[in-house]
Amino acid sequence: MSEQNIFILGIESSCDDTSAAVIQNGTVLSNVVASQKIHEDYGGVVPELASRAHQQNIVPVVHQALEKAKISKHQLNAIAFTRGPGLMGSLLVGTSFAKSLAYGLNIPLIDVNHMQAHILAHFIKDDNSKKPPFPFLALTISGGHTQIVRVDNYFEMAVIGETIDDAVGEAYDKSGKILGLGYPAGPEIDKRAQLGNPKAFTFTKPKVQGLNFSFSGLKTAILYFIQKQTKADANFVKNNLNDICASIQYTIIGILIDKLKLASKTTGIAHIAIGGGVSANSGIRQALKDGEKKFGWHTYVPKFEYTTDNAAMIAIVGYLKYLEGNFAKADVMASARLKL
Ligand code: KG4
Ligand code: ZN
Repeated sequence: MSEQNIFILGIESSCDDTSAAVIQNGTVLSNVVASQKIHEDYGGVVPELASRAHQQNIVPVVHQALEKAKISKHQLNAIAFTRGPGLMGSLLVGTSFAKSLAYGLNIPLIDVNHMQAHILAHFIKDDNSKKPPFPFLALTISGGHTQIVRVDNYFEMAVIGETIDDAVGEAYDKSGKILGLGYPAGPEIDKRAQLGNPKAFTFTKPKVQGLNFSFSGLKTAILYFIQKQTKADANFVKNNLNDICASIQYTIIGILIDKLKLASKTTGIAHIAIGGGVSANSGIRQALKDGEKKFGWHTYVPKFEYTTDNAAMIAIVGYLKYLEGNFAKADVMASARLKL
């Protein structure tokens, strides 16, 4: 089989996005994402509703991905799916669908670790951004994850730091809830932060050993601060919203950069790649740019489409595993707590 003809279908259903993508030799032909708006009314992802929505979305999303890629399912060489980590009910939908389709088409099934996919998204070929050389450090920040990973090769990576409680995106979303903002609050806090004074209010940074993170204390500190200030002035939040957002963002970015500095110092690695929905944040992007000048870092940010939850990142891992003949057994099961 010539290399030009490898088509992989990727399927992602670990949280609240149902996604399917087709790639040809590492180049994306389609990447369809159906985001589930229903959770906005609840201020967070409701697992039961997420799996139901995946059930409704998965057939049309896969159909659309094949149609956009202009290929028939009979041209597929393999099907890659997210095995974990994630919400069990959500993972089961993608896993069962991928298994049945691969079985029906009599082609290999490839299981993919979602966290590995966030990192290997940097190697999608149609993205013109520069690729990180090995070894590099990957900072994955989203509503579900906060990890620093040392990446020595496509399949040799080790988590060297992670959150011991909330993810950084949760810190944004929970702070937003306290401030009365909609869900997810990250983008609005970011927008307002750019209009406010980052030093208007001070929130203490958590003291966590080594390269691990903690964000739940910050959320509580913000809650107490807002309760106290509102008692004295009922309009405190309304009158100071941009400054509050800027101060929260300043604290969160400070925590992330402090740990990255420590990770870079202890590993001697200056190549830093970011991924996950929070990598859209203007503050972290600016801080990384500053790090290039201040600390001699080389930083890498993938196209936004490939950095939030999406199936193109699942398909690229599928492609790399396909080249190695690394396939899943027919009895492979979803794993909510799958480790890197
Ligand atoms: O990767 P993602 O789409 O889904 C997962 O959580 O896996 O990330 C969503 C998270 C939410 O918590 C959202 O508030 C946050 O990313 N987010 C941001 C920004 N854009 C999205 N947080 C801060 N600044 C942003 N610009
Ligand atoms: Zn994710």
